[in-house]
Order: sequence, then C-alpha cells, then structure tokens
Amino acid sequence: MEMRLKSNLYMVLMILSPLMEVEAAAMECDLFEGNWVLDESYPLYNESSCSFVEKEFNCVNNGRPDRSYLKFRWQPHGCSLSRFDGPKFLEKLKGKTIMYVGDSLSRNQWISMLCMIHSSLPTANYVVNISAIQDMTTYTFTDFGLKVSYHHSLYLVDIVKQRIGRVLKLDTLTNGKLWLEADYLVFNTWHWWNRRGASQPFDYIEDGSRIYKDMDRVVAFGKAVVTWGRWLDANLLLNKTKVFFQGISPSHYNGTDWGEPKAKSCSGQQVPLLTTTYPGASPPALAVLKKSLQTIKKPVTLLDITNLSLLRIDGHPSAYGLGVVDCSHWCLAGVPDTWNVLLYNLMFQDEEVS
Ligand SMILES: *[C@@H]1O[C@H](CO)[C@@H](O)[C@H](O)[C@H]1NC(C)=O
Ligand SMILES: *[C@@H]1O[C@H](CO)[C@@H](O)[C@H](O)[C@H]1NC(C)=O
Ligand SMILES: *[C@@H]1O[C@H](CO)[C@@H](O)[C@H](O)[C@H]1NC(C)=O
Ligand SMILES: *[C@@H]1O[C@H](CO)[C@@H](O)[C@H](O)[C@H]1NC(C)=O
Ligand SMILES: *[C@@H]1O[C@H](CO)[C@@H](O)[C@H](O)[C@H]1NC(C)=O
Repeated sequence: MEMRLKSNLYMVLMILSPLMEVEAAAMECDLFEGNWVLDESYPLYNESSCSFVEKEFNCVNNGRPDRSYLKFRWQPHGCSLSRFDGPKFLEKLKGKTIMYVGDSLSRNQWISMLCMIHSSLPTANYVVNISAIQDMTTYTFTDFGLKVSYHHSLYLVDIVKQRIGRVLKLDTLTNGKLWLEADYLVFNTWHWWNRRGASQPFDYIEDGSRIYKDMDRVVAFGKAVVTWGRWLDANLLLNKTKVFFQGISPSHYNGTDWGEPKAKSCSGQQVPLLTTTYPGASPPALAVLKKSLQTIKKPVTLLDITNLSLLRIDGHPSAYGLGVVDCSHWCLAGVPDTWNVLLYNLMFQDEEVS
C-alpha cells in the first residue's frame, strides 16, 4: 500500500515537473527574440476591406506585385504569441481608450490596430472625431465605447516659437494633458530627430539653460526621453494607465547592412531575413532609448520591435507608397500588425488569463 502511494506520488511528480518547466519557460520567454515563419493564415486582414489604410501604406493598392511579404508570422523562440482575438479585445476594453502618440510610425501602428479590430468584427459601428487644433484623431467603436486615438507629436517634447526662431526644448513637455485620458498609451519618437535642412521643423535646440544651433541628435533624443519620463512620473496615475514605448522602427537604405552591398534601398526585397539576428548594426538610438527608460520610476514597457523589424527588409512600401522610395514606413497589412500582436500579448500580461 505504502509502496503504491509512493510510486503514485512519484508518477505525479514525473508528470508535473515537465509541465512546471514549460510554465517557467513561458514566463521567461522573450517575445522579441525569435524568427519569422511562413504562415498561410496571414495576413491578419485584407487591406481592401479596411478603409482606414491610407494610400501611403496601401502597397497592394499602389501596385506592389509580390504577395509573399504578407505571409510571415513572428515566432518567439521560447513560446507562442496569442493570435489577436478582436471580439475578446473589444469586450475586455469596453469603455477604455488606447492612444498612440508620436510620428508617422505611430500612425502606421494605429491604422494597423484599426484594421485588426475592424476586420475581426466588421459589423462593429464606429465614429471618427478629427481635431485639427489638437492634431488628434479618435475612432470610437460605439457599441463598446472603445476609443482608439492617434495624437501626432513629432518629438514629444516642446517646439516653441521664440524671437530667435523655432526652438526644440529638450527639457519641457506641455502637450501631455490629452494623454491623461488614455488607459493604454503607446509612445514613439525618433525618426524626426535626424531631420535636417528644409524639413527640419526647428531652428535651435535648447538644452537646460543653453541654446545650440545643433547638437548630436541621438544625445538630444535621449534627453527628450528622460524629460518625457519625468512627465510620466509626475502626472500618471498608475492604477489607471499602462504605458508602452514603441521602440525604434528601423529603416533599410543600405544593403551592406544585410549582406547585399549593391542594394541602395529595400526596393525589390520580397522575403524577410529568416535568421534570428540581423547582420548589420543595431540603431544607436536604441541603446540610448533603453538607458533613458531606466531613469523612469513608473513602469514603462518597451515594445522592443527593432530586431524583429530589422529582419523585414521586405516589409516597406519602397516605390509602392507615396511615390518616393520609402524604406522607413511599413506596408499594411504588414509588420506593424505584429507590433500590435505583441502589444496585445503584453497589455493583459499581469491580469488573470481568462
Ligand atoms: C537585438 O540584437 C542585438 C544585436 O544582435 C542584441 O544584442 C539584442 O540582445 C537583441 N535584442 C533582442 C530583444 O533580441
Ligand atoms: C483582398 O481581397 C480582394 C477582393 O476579394 C482580392 O482580390 C485580393 O486578392 C485580396 N488581397 C490579398 C492580398 O489577399
Ligand atoms: C473630439 O475630440 C476633441 C479632442 O479630443 C474633443 O475636445 C472634442 O470634445 C471631441 N468631440 C466630440 C464630439 O466628441
Ligand atoms: C488611483 O489612485 C489615486 C491616487 O492614489 C486615487 O485618488 C484614485 O481614486 C485611484 N483610482 C482608482 C480608479 O482606483
Ligand atoms: C553603408 O554601410 C556601410 C557599412 O556601415 C558603410 O561603409 C557605407 O558607407 C554605407 N553606405 C552608404 C551609401 O551610406
């Protein structure tokens, strides 16, 4: 009798322990480490049935002939991502607001989210509110009271017109009041920090008490992220808001980075790199971003999409965007859908799984 009990217990332990290991592995799983795999069930939606897609991102409609770039799913090494479940998402987020704040890469991700929601429940009613003054657009899925907003903010910190000209102020952020309404915030800024010449929307950079004609842009970006973090620490109610930073979305204009030195852009790329690591260097802004995020006391989740997006040399509009070769933004359907799947997997991570 005693023998049997013991051996039963042993059996139970034998059965349990591999399970426990799986659970532990799942908890440690780095969602951002993995590779792209072909998945015939992709894309998550057909752009022709999603009227939110702007011309800029609508590569198929702009004549892009190849389709294989639509068929890749991100597969983390240690676990699998939950597939986006639109009806469940809408139900869980009843009455809530998700807000994307940043430049056109934020707009890219915001539109992807609208398409993912709409395609999973095409009958869900919505209204749009465009506020030109606040530079913000909100779609409300009225049956659920779910708001999905985009607030256009190139640098997060302030640009102020002064007597000397337009001054980018690394230390002040006065535009954040709108953000307080949101339950989920997804921020991003980087691409405009490298702008120079006619499209640079400032004349000077103010850092502390000093005004510069120019300075190292990566350093300036890092300081702005610290200022943004100070704003979060001073203003956000933790029990209401979850904060994400989109990370650094990479561009592909130099084929040397991915082993095709003759390529001057992403034009003609039809499949991703199927490796785990990108042969080229990591964008310097990423290291600076990670360092700046460490100065923030409130929890901020980095949507660390740089590496997985670096592998997507095929994911940009190239000539099938607004006409100029665009290897910075992403086609929709496409890579930003994966950013949102990751967001979806992280939004509810500290809640009970139902
Ligand atoms: C991204 O790639 C760099 C360089 O290969 C590596 O150091 C870093 O750990 C990677 N990050 C993730 C999240 O995989
Ligand atoms: C999207 O749907 C249209 C119309 O049904 C179809 O012609 C087109 O091939 C689809 N696009 C993709 C990328 O599957
Ligand atoms: C539209 O959005 C703006 C900015 O968020 C807000 O001030 C305004 O009240 C909204 N209008 C409606 C009708 O909801
Ligand atoms: C969140 O915390 C603040 C400050 O501690 C408190 O005043 C507020 O009532 C809390 N809100 C909720 C929804 O719990
Ligand atoms: C591309 O990258 C390589 C390696 O970093 C560099 O030597 C080269 O100058 C770059 N080419 C252009 C056109 O920027």
